[in-house]
Amino acid sequence: MNFSGRTAIVTGGAKGIGRGCCELLAQHGANVVIADMNLAGAQEVEKALKEKGCSAKAVQVNVKSVGDVRAMVETAADTFGTVDILINNAGILHTTPIEDITEEEWDNIVAINLKSVFFATQAVLPYMKEKRYGKVLNLSSLAGRNGGIANGLGYSATKAGIIGLTRGFAARLAKYGINVNAIAPGSTDTGILDTLPQEKIDELVSKIPLGRFGKTKEIAGVAVFLCSDEASFMTGAIVDVNGGMYFG
Ligand SMILES: NC(=O)c1ccc[n+]([C@@H]2O[C@H](COP(=O)([O-])OP(=O)(O)OC[C@H]3O[C@@H](n4cnc5c(N)ncnc54)[C@H](O)[C@@H]3O)[C@@H](O)[C@H]2O)c1
Repeated sequence: MNFSGRTAIVTGGAKGIGRGCCELLAQHGANVVIADMNLAGAQEVEKALKEKGCSAKAVQVNVKSVGDVRAMVETAADTFGTVDILINNAGILHTTPIEDITEEEWDNIVAINLKSVFFATQAVLPYMKEKRYGKVLNLSSLAGRNGGIANGLGYSATKAGIIGLTRGFAARLAKYGINVNAIAPGSTDTGILDTLPQEKIDELVSKIPLGRFGKTKEIAGVAVFLCSDEASFMTGAIVDVNGGMYFG
């Protein structure tokens, strides 16, 4: 893979899968915008990448704000001249039972996990259309495929919504040379699972044929591959990365 001269925005890039994507993109030559609500975390990634001679910029964004998302894209373009790659990775998990989910909680998870994907993609379009080149990669989830096991249904709904958005964007944007794909990871060993009780974690592991959670690098590797020119004939794909737990 060679991303020299390409500029990539990774939302939620300060940690977990997003950080893994930032590191891999930078390692292969991209200018990387680490966009996260956690500015200190994003700045730490920026520093680590720059120490390795890579080109990086930390940007603070709350992806649930359309204004923030538009400003993030403008900052990326002002800093590096354009935007070629967008990884819509920022997301939150919840585990609230059906009976206890409030309207506020529902709206919050939809805004962070789903609305953000639409508006960030909308915001990068002018740059990608102009060049007739662009890669958008969305983080869905196994929960969007099978309804989920340990998570709340707001999470399952948003991750299933991302699959619809990915296919809808892919069909409409192919004529501009823009590839839009998603990955649907199974349980992956990042901080996002820390909210789950131990018995849920044991239950999840027992259902994974490969017998373990995924590693951040195993997810980031597939995500970044889908943003590469090696994957140029893939669009509208939802790639399962789940240790054999579900075959789409
Ligand atoms: N870890 C898993 O098991 C798993 C499985 C399937 C899908 N995913 C998806 O992969 C993505 C990354 O997951 P992860 O496990 O690396 O998460 P994580 O919790 O380790 O990291 C998420 C990052 O997103 C940032 N973020 C959260 N809300 C934000 C907001 N409103 N605006 C900007 N940044 C925000 C956080 O600050 C953090 O840096 C998520 O979309 C998640 O749903 C994760």
